[in-house]
Amino acid sequence: MSQHLHHDIVIIGAGAAGLTLALELANEHQVAILTKGDISEGSTLYAQGGVAAVLSEKDTIDSHVQDTIVAGAELGDEDAIRYTVEHSKESIDWLIDQGVPFTRYGDNEDYHLTKEGGHSHRRIIHAADATGLAISKTLVKNALAHPNIHFFPDRVAIDLITTQKLGLEGDNRVIGLYALNQDSEQVEVFHAHRIALATGGSSKVYLYTSNPDTASGDGIAMAWRAGCRVGNMEFNQFHPTCLYDAKAKTFLISEAVRGEGGRLLLPDGTRFMANFDERGELAPRDIVARAIDHEMKRLGVDHVLLDISHKDPEFIKEHFPTIYQRCLSYGHDMTQAAIPVVPAAHYTCGGVVVDQSGATDVKDLYAIGETSYTGLHGANRLASNSLLECIVYARSAARQILSDNAPRADYQIPDWDASKVTDSDEDVVITHNWHELRRFMWDYVGIVRTNKRLLRAKHRVDLLLSEIEEFYSNYRITADLLELRNLAVVADLIIQSAMARKESRGLHFTLDYPEKLENSGPTILKPRIRSSELANQAASQH
Ligand code: FAD
Ligand code: SIN
Repeated sequence: MSQHLHHDIVIIGAGAAGLTLALELANEHQVAILTKGDISEGSTLYAQGGVAAVLSEKDTIDSHVQDTIVAGAELGDEDAIRYTVEHSKESIDWLIDQGVPFTRYGDNEDYHLTKEGGHSHRRIIHAADATGLAISKTLVKNALAHPNIHFFPDRVAIDLITTQKLGLEGDNRVIGLYALNQDSEQVEVFHAHRIALATGGSSKVYLYTSNPDTASGDGIAMAWRAGCRVGNMEFNQFHPTCLYDAKAKTFLISEAVRGEGGRLLLPDGTRFMANFDERGELAPRDIVARAIDHEMKRLGVDHVLLDISHKDPEFIKEHFPTIYQRCLSYGHDMTQAAIPVVPAAHYTCGGVVVDQSGATDVKDLYAIGETSYTGLHGANRLASNSLLECIVYARSAARQILSDNAPRADYQIPDWDASKVTDSDEDVVITHNWHELRRFMWDYVGIVRTNKRLLRAKHRVDLLLSEIEEFYSNYRITADLLELRNLAVVADLIIQSAMARKESRGLHFTLDYPEKLENSGPTILKPRIRSSELANQAASQH
């Protein structure tokens, strides 16, 4: 028998988006927050540069809006962009009220604002070079202290339960979810009147990524299976500068290093960004990452160099204490010499299609943060607009939920049925498919694409999808299998979206269509779910 738990609202994910929503709702509602592992683990914890917002008198809303449109290669939704930027200051004020210790100018009262690629003003508020840690620590502390917020760590959400999946008449409405309790290895049933997907992005679909292991696109895959549209999945952002060092895996070197004067160099010490864009090192990320990729392929080298050693060592240590220490621990002293860097998958610009309140196509289901597609980022995200989007949209979702007092029905939800599955005796299928998927996504669906590469990737992902589905139907679920199942769905959505875009724009660059079309719109995919598939997802693995 499954354990059944009841809350007003279940939030899947405790990053900046999930925690903000929980804190905004908790005075009125009983809120459950599920996390895959530890409460704090997720991309938010590792965010470095900061949060973009119009805070300086020299800056304007129009300027931030314009920078976002330009960085997004004119594919962003202007309403979403303006809405986000107009709510930027109040979002920062909210974070400050929560107690986030942003860096100030010495003893002066003013907050220090840094610069990053694509911004025409200093507008990134930050906590040294560990902004995400400061936000996460503060919001987790406040959430843990709230009597109406209940954390459920080590729970992997498996699938959403909707009225349609249960064969009920009327609008398709979310009413609960199944989650694997990794301690007891049992599947629990969470009942809720509303559910928010705040599960972060899906950059783990690529072999090299700046993201933590949580970023396997679970929320996007669950929403897709529940009947939601997804948008702009072809636009996966590659951050230009991750430390190149076998011991470091992929440690991010914040764009703020370039914002404060860092220069990109070829291995022989030549500066090269001016050959690609007049904004040089501070061009938007898609341009810088593509330039690095181009130079690495042209010269056959493993990395390029990032040099800020011309600045005062004390300035470097004060502004980038985490990055300085981490690099030093791998033997790179950034105050003395250039450090080796490479691009890596960093951010999912697309996601679950939502409106301005974070509401999805399924009633009472919300998607916020990196999981969502709000229209803000267009074809490429402007640096430090992500944390901003998390806070702005979590708060607007909260406003909508708080203003809707219509009573919700309680539903009977069946137990999870694993009676027909056995323990796997060949987990190698999972590890093999996991590596294969991430490898071909990197090689065929990466920074530079072609029709042929996408077609190769499509053949492979189709094969993996059927193999994984068969495995899922026959063997007891594990966290690894659930993640692989979701990664394969997300990979397929990325490939389908990339195949549909017959131009090069922002993060989608293809040698077969190198030009930008004059008129272009977002890529929106709509799930075609057969009722037999819905029934299969409803309560069991079969
Ligand atoms: P996350 O913070 O990723 O949280 C996801 C949550 O979902 C986690 O709690 C996880 O456990 C949970 N979860 C996922 N799947 C499941 C499941 N199946 N069941 C249960 N729980 C689940 N952006 C900026 O704006 N500024 C920056 O300076 C910046 N720096 C960055 C540096 C790095 C190294 C990285 C990786 C990203 C950076 N970004 C930055 C991007 C930004 O950090 C993320 O986009 C943002 O933090 C995402 O927040 P989120 O709340 O949407 O998700
Ligand atoms: C960084 O610090 O370079 C990351 C900023 C971001 O991803 O927005």
